[in-house]
Amino acid sequence: MENNPKIKRIGVLTSGGDAPGMNAAIRSVVRSAAARNIQVLGIRRGYNGLINGDVTEMNARSVNGLTSRGGTMLCTARCDEFRYEEGQQRAANACRYLGIQGLIAIGGDGTFRGLRDLSKFGVQTCGIPATIDNDIASTDYTLGFDTACNTAVEAIDKLADTMQSHERISVVEVMGRHAGHLALYVGIATGAAAILVPEHPFDFEQDIIERIREGRIAGKNHFIVIVAEGVGHASAIADKIAAETGIDTRVTIMGHIQRGGSPSARDRVMATRMGHYAVDCLLEEKSNIVVCYKNAQMIDMNIDEALSMTKCLNENMYDMVKDISK
Ligand code: F6P
Repeated sequence: MENNPKIKRIGVLTSGGDAPGMNAAIRSVVRSAAARNIQVLGIRRGYNGLINGDVTEMNARSVNGLTSRGGTMLCTARCDEFRYEEGQQRAANACRYLGIQGLIAIGGDGTFRGLRDLSKFGVQTCGIPATIDNDIASTDYTLGFDTACNTAVEAIDKLADTMQSHERISVVEVMGRHAGHLALYVGIATGAAAILVPEHPFDFEQDIIERIREGRIAGKNHFIVIVAEGVGHASAIADKIAAETGIDTRVTIMGHIQRGGSPSARDRVMATRMGHYAVDCLLEEKSNIVVCYKNAQMIDMNIDEALSMTKCLNENMYDMVKDISK
């Protein structure tokens, strides 16, 4: 066990929407710190907990069995007060009072903006990307994406069974906020006839109806249409499809089911790697950074730079669907 003379205590929190793998990341941060004789304070309810000193001491044993658990044991929240300088100052004061020298926050873009603001008050900060949307441009992967895909795919496979029996169309709305990454992966994995994403305007006749007609001629008796929530309401699209095709059509909104559940092996491993890397970064006295997975490697990037980037949809995958879904 190494001793670290510089950092004695760090804090860890989860913020924004939860994602499977957050617990595994907390566990990794706590154990990686413990291995270096660094104390860890778990901060409850995101930045709210920091402002209000809602903390709990953690050690290697307090994170037993956490890798397989969904949600976040520290709870999460969005914090309005923290958006203003006064709230940030209160959080920085709390860090000083609690002896927190470095802070690791697990979440999405909003969480990283919080870290950037806090670092201006002299707190060493590091972010770990976690959101089922996989919409953070600086990293190829965000924790929770794989599990959310698997959850949606498992449910849609079940839907496909009953759609096949009744020769129906199933319109499924998946999460993703303003991005279509989740919809694209889920649509490909379930053999959807059409995948609607906010990154691409779609032609209702050509991109949906025509594909269903072609499929019917080719002998298909049921269809899955995936709608990313950023596109609009799946029910309105389903009504239109039913009216145009005359085929019985049902709507399913996947909703928050996608945010829960035991994380996949991929999310557990990625969370463990990211948590370990984040502790290393604090030890190297890095600050205002976010851990990123790029080209199969962990790297870190300045938060301002990371936030200035825009993530694009994988266009090759999107184009591929036109051939494969026929
Ligand atoms: O960012 C994750 C996410 O699940 C999005 O896909 C979705 O739009 C949003 O959060 C839902 O937020 P809430 O849990 O606050 O309803």
